[in-house]
Amino acid sequence: MHVIPAVALEHVDFGYAPGRRVLEDVSLEVREGEFVAIAGPNGGGKTTLVRIVLGLERPASGTALLYGEPAHRFSRRRTLGYLAQRAELGGDAPATVREVVAAGRLACAGLVGPLRRRDRELVAEAIARVGLEEVADAPLRTLSGGMQQRAFIAKALAGEPSVLVLDEPTTGVDVESQESLAALLDRLHSELGVTILYVSHEFGAVERFVQRLVLVRRGIVFDGPPRELPHVWHDPSHAHA
Ligand SMILES: Nc1ncnc2c1ncn2[C@@H]1O[C@H](COP(=O)(O)OP(=O)(O)OP(=O)(O)O)[C@@H](O)[C@H]1O
Ligand SMILES: [Mg+2]
Repeated sequence: MHVIPAVALEHVDFGYAPGRRVLEDVSLEVREGEFVAIAGPNGGGKTTLVRIVLGLERPASGTALLYGEPAHRFSRRRTLGYLAQRAELGGDAPATVREVVAAGRLACAGLVGPLRRRDRELVAEAIARVGLEEVADAPLRTLSGGMQQRAFIAKALAGEPSVLVLDEPTTGVDVESQESLAALLDRLHSELGVTILYVSHEFGAVERFVQRLVLVRRGIVFDGPPRELPHVWHDPSHAHA
């Protein structure tokens, strides 16, 4: 039986300006329920790649499918959770953790009015999952950077995503928080079967949880279990060249 993959890119080319390809001939298939790390040097095209996956950018040529539908016209957009690179609330907005997370639920439920009881439960559940119950009603700006990141992850979770894309969620986050984030994602993956694309050039924290590591450098230069990564790619001077 052929199962439709969650994500399917086929021979995708993309550039922001004519004549300057950022991605070239990228093909990538992610099955539902996979936990994939995406790594590579700065400017390698990781963010661009996930934006194409989510249908936020369209390939110049080739195809991008989500569950078999063209990604930019995907009909179940609410089932996508996206934590963009350097997600910020901006300035000193007074919103509390709960309000930020609730915004994720509102966006998903397509609501404009107050949240229903079930929505409020899902918001509380998402806050608990990331371990922020004690600061749920504190303004986000009073939290440390790592805790703010967890609040944004809870925001994405409140929408009950079937696909969760996290772009550099551990920027500015200490090693201990990176480990706890990795463990959190592992639980989401194994308990809820969420398909996860985790972008980072520091994949050490998730290495033991992911089935696949994809290295992006204009094209996909490696795609396989992290332990099969050729040794040369572990060399930082090479990875960041
Ligand atoms: N909005 C944009 N307009 C023009 N060029 C862009 C834009 N976004 C990215 N680029 C260029 O596309 C290339 C790939 O960028 P991208 O952000 O996808 O890389 P990345 O792997 O996510 O890098 P980083 O590790 O720094 O986040 C880079 O050369 C970048 O300068
Ligand atoms: Mg990026």
